[in-house]
Amino acid sequence: MKLTPNEQAMLEGREGVARQKAMELLVGYAEGLGAEGFVDTNNVAVLTGLFPYPDLIREIVPSLDPDEIASKFFLNSDEIVVVDKVKAFTTSHIYRNQDYPQIQQGGEFLCKVTKNMEQYCKRIGIVNLATCSPYQSGNLPVMGEHCAWTESSAIPFCNSILGGRTNIEGLHSAFASAITGKTPLWGLHLDENRVGKIIVDVAVDMGDIKEWNLMGYYVGGQIGLDIPIYMNINAVPDLTRIMALCAAGAASGSTVMFHIVGHTPEAPSSDEMDKLGKGLPILPYALEQRREAYERLNHSTRDDVDVVVLGCPHYTLERMKAIAGMLEGKKIHPNVELFVTTCRMIKAIADRDGYTEAISEAGGKVMDDTCGIFFEFNSSKVLASDSAKMVHYVPMTAGVKNTWFGTTEECIDAALTGKWKGELT
Ligand code: F3S
Repeated sequence: MKLTPNEQAMLEGREGVARQKAMELLVGYAEGLGAEGFVDTNNVAVLTGLFPYPDLIREIVPSLDPDEIASKFFLNSDEIVVVDKVKAFTTSHIYRNQDYPQIQQGGEFLCKVTKNMEQYCKRIGIVNLATCSPYQSGNLPVMGEHCAWTESSAIPFCNSILGGRTNIEGLHSAFASAITGKTPLWGLHLDENRVGKIIVDVAVDMGDIKEWNLMGYYVGGQIGLDIPIYMNINAVPDLTRIMALCAAGAASGSTVMFHIVGHTPEAPSSDEMDKLGKGLPILPYALEQRREAYERLNHSTRDDVDVVVLGCPHYTLERMKAIAGMLEGKKIHPNVELFVTTCRMIKAIADRDGYTEAISEAGGKVMDDTCGIFFEFNSSKVLASDSAKMVHYVPMTAGVKNTWFGTTEECIDAALTGKWKGELT
């Protein structure tokens, strides 16, 4: 593959061992993908705190030294490589919430590991946003910006809504991009791969967040990596709705990008759709498909609810304010636990504006930096959420078999009464 003089210098170690290791990793990755070269990136979102297997860390790096963890887990190097500073503007994904170790898988141990990694990231110049939705709190790519992002729900947001350009990066490739400021030039970095391949003909009223979850979940499960073009949507896709669509489509399938005619920046115009529409396959999304998605997500045998998890992806300010209003002056049912996850910047505002207090006084827990799919749930419990992604994953990550999916209002009602009364109207 073609390397620029600067890329060659990094590969030969003339900019230090860390950049050399990172470049070696990226060259192998790019060659495997068939990329002919690299593109510069100054926008990376890394996974430096996701360690679902505590025993593996204990075994491989008993010292818990962050330089050794980064070398072995992120740079694939047995030699301990000390990274000086990252080259690209880089932000971090979630860690663990340090106030509630007992609630999260890996307990005190993983809280300690992730705290160390947070300090490590700070030292090497990674901004600790600690979120799966970096675009909500300071990492907002612009149209045409080449990025190297991890996190399946954030990738379609970057590509589809912002017009940024990222493939699905992993632990190693994103970390290497942070160190080098390079990412392989392939896939969604190229114009020709960003074109819609299938039309989704929407014949459902899209006036609630629940509908965006259901539609994303259905479509993602049908089309895999194809880029859908949503047509005939009858509601404005606001931030919370779009986040639901992105997360649900990436959970049931691998939606990395989509277009919404009339709303997203690279969507074909109505005129172009007249021509395009003749050649593209059409996927109907009507009441029958909506019900199918709903039934895949709702499979509890009991109508009592033990735990309600909200904030997947990390809750927006709009949702924090909304549930604070729903809970004000009320008390959560004694048999129910309510968890609300968000990013640290939104939590800081929620703290100052009283949303955290209203939720906490009702008996809920507002947790930043973390994610409900890594919570310790008793597998016999019944969980409810307003996120299709959460309901999709908890059976796998926490063994919870009984799940309810519904509107935020239905979830808050379940938290207050201990009963699930949601339905598909
Ligand atoms: Fe974020 Fe966890 Fe959901 S990382 S998107 S809250 S599964």
